Amino acid sequence: MFANPLLDGLQFSKEPSPFVITIFGATGDLTRRKLIPALFSLFLKGNISQFKIVGFARRPWTTQSFQDEVRQMIAGGPFASVPEGLKLAFLEKLDYVSSTFDAAEGYAKLSQIVQGWEGRLFYLSTPPDEYEPIIRNLGAQNLNEATRGYSRIIVEKPFGRDLATAKELNDILATVFEENQIYRIDHYLGKETVQNILVLRFGNGIFEPLWNNRYIDHIQITVAESLGVGTRGNYYEKSGALRDMVQSHIFQLMALLTMEPPNDLSPDTIRTEKVKILKSLRPITFKDVSKYTVRGQYSEGIVQGQPVKGYLEEEGVDPNSRTETFVALKIFLDTWRWEGVPIFIRTGKSLGRRVSEVAISFKEPPLHIFKNRGSDTWNNTLVIHIQPEEGITFNINAKIPGYTTQVRPVNMDFAYGNAFGEATPEAYERLLLDALVGDSTLYTRRDDIETSWAFITRILQGWAEDPNPLPQYRAGGSGPDEAKNLLGSLHQKWRKL
Ligand code: BG6
Repeated sequence: MFANPLLDGLQFSKEPSPFVITIFGATGDLTRRKLIPALFSLFLKGNISQFKIVGFARRPWTTQSFQDEVRQMIAGGPFASVPEGLKLAFLEKLDYVSSTFDAAEGYAKLSQIVQGWEGRLFYLSTPPDEYEPIIRNLGAQNLNEATRGYSRIIVEKPFGRDLATAKELNDILATVFEENQIYRIDHYLGKETVQNILVLRFGNGIFEPLWNNRYIDHIQITVAESLGVGTRGNYYEKSGALRDMVQSHIFQLMALLTMEPPNDLSPDTIRTEKVKILKSLRPITFKDVSKYTVRGQYSEGIVQGQPVKGYLEEEGVDPNSRTETFVALKIFLDTWRWEGVPIFIRTGKSLGRRVSEVAISFKEPPLHIFKNRGSDTWNNTLVIHIQPEEGITFNINAKIPGYTTQVRPVNMDFAYGNAFGEATPEAYERLLLDALVGDSTLYTRRDDIETSWAFITRILQGWAEDPNPLPQYRAGGSGPDEAKNLLGSLHQKWRKL
């Protein structure tokens, strides 16, 4: 019922031309957890065949030691039963350059390796301070140009820390690459369930007529994580939940949910509609931050039966830190369609459950002829489950069987696993393949990123002036109680975590 035309003809018919992908920061966590597994998986599925992977990082590894590391990355989990011969064939495609990110010699060596390859994809997966020297050195070696084929660059988040730094990074990129060579990645856009939002809305006739302020009471977006910051304390201290999750992943979700229908599926048509929505965000100014935002920081507690530390005790975290590990927002879009519909957003670490979902809460019927329900249960809710469950639930009221007119909410369910019977591909697989075939639909454009940062930066400035202590919440719970203050009418309740 919810087939995804965005995937049609892309994943299986567009085989990328021979390419070399260079991963800057290849010794890091993202390479191990996401990039290598995604590339290996694409290789196993036959989506990529003629390619080379170059690891570029400071560690004094050799091609041999890089191969040994990658061998570990593809040893277990979904790859445990892959025949050794296939693993060897993949490992043979690896090369490694040991270099600092500002040393011209490293790039000269890289230039020799990539010579003769039609497609050149550069992946920035280093700490963001290294982006500038990498971009400039790629330019200095003319690696931004391809006489035959293409040269493209994928830029990982964080893409800036605020509007000024995001603009600065965009400017640096623009001195070396054209906008159509730049792929700013947001891995949420690679998730099947996120892409399906467009299909749900615009591939079905039933929802769109109701998708507006006449029928929708409010929208709730939750991205809750049960893990704390773990070993990423250093990174997280410079980020916090608003930058880490809202500016990027949650705003992308929100834009897909609320944008106007695109006329076609071309990258720029979709991206232009998303930017229009981001531009319509009603600014939260300095005087309003306490009315529309709530921050929190986790204290020690129990998560899924295990005792866990509080944020201030985590490695790499300043014991006086005011970095938020939870944020809740109430936002409005100033458009005809959405005027007056609050969008509640919450995200946090060390919460009781890992769940990402969007809940569209519809207005109640105009007249209550069945009076035996609490008023809040009259609101039909459409829930888009993003992870770990993947699917859609529509919550409707139904008559309880028997000689009564009693009513109770029940669910209509669509689960990906049941409907399609196969595991959905990993986000990074889809996104890498898109970049290789030159499809930027699921990547963010310059104006997209700068518009969302403009909104977020105002909130950050407001918070910087706020002397109040940060509310604490116990790890394993559902966030600070203060988040309830954002809600308005009786119908508005945070969904259970
Ligand atoms: C990353 C954030 O972008 O997304 C992490 O930096 C977060 O802090 C992660 O944990 C969540 O991604 P996913 O796919 O596990 O929901």
